[in-house]
Amino acid sequence: MTISELDVAWVRTQFPAFSDPQSAGWAHFENAGGSYVPQQVIDILTSFFTSTKVQPYVAAGPSQRGGAAMDRAYEMMPATFNAAPDQVHFGPSTSQNTYVLSHAVRSALRHGDEVVVTNQDHEANVGAWRRLSEVGAVIKEWQVDPDTGLLDVSELSSLLSDRTRLVCVTHASNVAAAVNPISEIADLVHAAGGWLVVDGVAHAPHAAIDVTQLGCDAYVYSTYKTFGPHLGLMFTADDFRDAIGNEGHYFNAAKPTSRLTPAGPDHASVAATAGIIDYYQAVHDHHFDSEATTTKDLISDVFGLFAAHEERLMAPILELLSSKEARVVGIVEADHDRRAPTIAFHSTRVASDDVWRGLGDQKIACSHGNFYARRLVEALGLDPDIGVVRLSLVHYNDVEEVGRAVAALDRLL
Ligand SMILES: Cc1ncc(COP(=O)(O)O)c(C=O)c1O
Repeated sequence: MTISELDVAWVRTQFPAFSDPQSAGWAHFENAGGSYVPQQVIDILTSFFTSTKVQPYVAAGPSQRGGAAMDRAYEMMPATFNAAPDQVHFGPSTSQNTYVLSHAVRSALRHGDEVVVTNQDHEANVGAWRRLSEVGAVIKEWQVDPDTGLLDVSELSSLLSDRTRLVCVTHASNVAAAVNPISEIADLVHAAGGWLVVDGVAHAPHAAIDVTQLGCDAYVYSTYKTFGPHLGLMFTADDFRDAIGNEGHYFNAAKPTSRLTPAGPDHASVAATAGIIDYYQAVHDHHFDSEATTTKDLISDVFGLFAAHEERLMAPILELLSSKEARVVGIVEADHDRRAPTIAFHSTRVASDDVWRGLGDQKIACSHGNFYARRLVEALGLDPDIGVVRLSLVHYNDVEEVGRAVAALDRLL
């Protein structure tokens, strides 16, 4: 029988952290920093390190099996973007991927070309692009509303010109959490003749990504926030990749997936990303009667369950905060289509570090500060070191944990 609501109790059995003596008992609300991993990922990592920890692809036996485990991930993970295997690079992190991509773009820039960055993004999708001024690019900043932390697309229009080469924006900020209208932005950027680079790190744990539907030229996210090992994945559209430089070894220039990965990423971690899809498959098997026809459909079914549950989780926290003297950054309604369940706020009465300490005393794991979205926190008029308190939830959080957080916040604020 199909189960229409996420069976969270079952979901939690898939994640050993919930029964580990050191982490059990903690409400993990720092998921935007890094998520727990399910057994499926741990099994592949363990097997790789135990049985195939040799140079892959070069010899028979363990070497071939290690290579095959990596190939399985290279074939499976592009579905997380709805992209083809040739379009996805596996790198050590998103910061490293955007850094490499920004170097590759240099050869396609002419003096005076314009690059638009926001002050809503994590610095990983700002700093590397701003450094293009070193090769003559003009940097323009698309600024948030300082009261809400939100971006307004009409303001982007006024920044675009026939010199626009690149626009870099977040799909959902790791602090403001609002989902930016990427396909609308892509249309504007392409009409101006530019490319669009999207940071999906804070969005990918909460929604299925479809780069075809979004229409962006590059999309990045980090698998250690989507229940996997510590890597960054990067989609690039074919014509964009062909127009920019090769950052890999010269003899690998013809290999699409090597062009933007100058360093070979950790082999065991590459292989273990396939465990993320194995986990989604297990979730699907548990909830749905019939098999999904494609991995894209599988991911979309599973994220449908996750989204409805996450929306239920964030509602009581947002409601409580609205009754306090606290400012929630971004959208205040618990609407999963418009915001991720990443709730950043600051109180006008209690300092963010005191709130964070009080939550920690109740075994609610979260953090405070600027979360490397320093420009955003400064634009909001806050001290970037004290910043906001952030409670970031994912689908394996449950109602009991949320109740505990709400009660603690009620007392603290
Ligand atoms: C929205 C966002 N973008 C980019 C990054 C950087 O990702 P990585 O740690 O993989 O470099 C983070 C990390 O927290 C993030 O939250």
